[in-house]
Amino acid sequence: MSCDTRPAHRLHRTGLMVLSLLLPSLPAHASSQLALDKGCYTCHGKPPRKNAPTFAELASRYAKHRGNTSAENALVEKLRQGSFLGHIDAHERLSQEDARRLVRWIIDGAH
Ligand code: HEC
Repeated sequence: MSCDTRPAHRLHRTGLMVLSLLLPSLPAHASSQLALDKGCYTCHGKPPRKNAPTFAELASRYAKHRGNTSAENALVEKLRQGSFLGHIDAHERLSQEDARRLVRWIIDGAH
């Protein structure tokens, strides 16, 4: 009996695998939505708040790190740690995964 459902089951699993393979390369706007959800634009939008750089500025600053995993890791850590002087909750609350997606999005131009 259960054999009848197997091919469909397998197809389903293959679909999931394909999906998870595609995830790291989700279109960039998925991360700009994340930035929106996390309130990043409150300070990094146009006009930026106080001394916050715009995402466009950050993107040109970060572009040189494209493809450099260890630099990317350092940026993720730096973002989540927050700076010594300025506490920024929105930065420090980020999960490792979200921070990585956002840093990658910025490295790729923050579009
Ligand atoms: C309350 C205002 C505020 C919010 C909200 C905010 N930021 Fe920032 N961010 C700043 C300021 C100010 C700086 C510059 C000073 C610093 O780096 O601490 C900064 C710096 C940065 C930097 C540069 C760090 C470096 O020095 O390389 C990145 C990347 C960044 N923010 C990303 C984000 C992301 C992603 C979000 C959303 C999760 C976010 N910020 C939300 C204020 C904010």
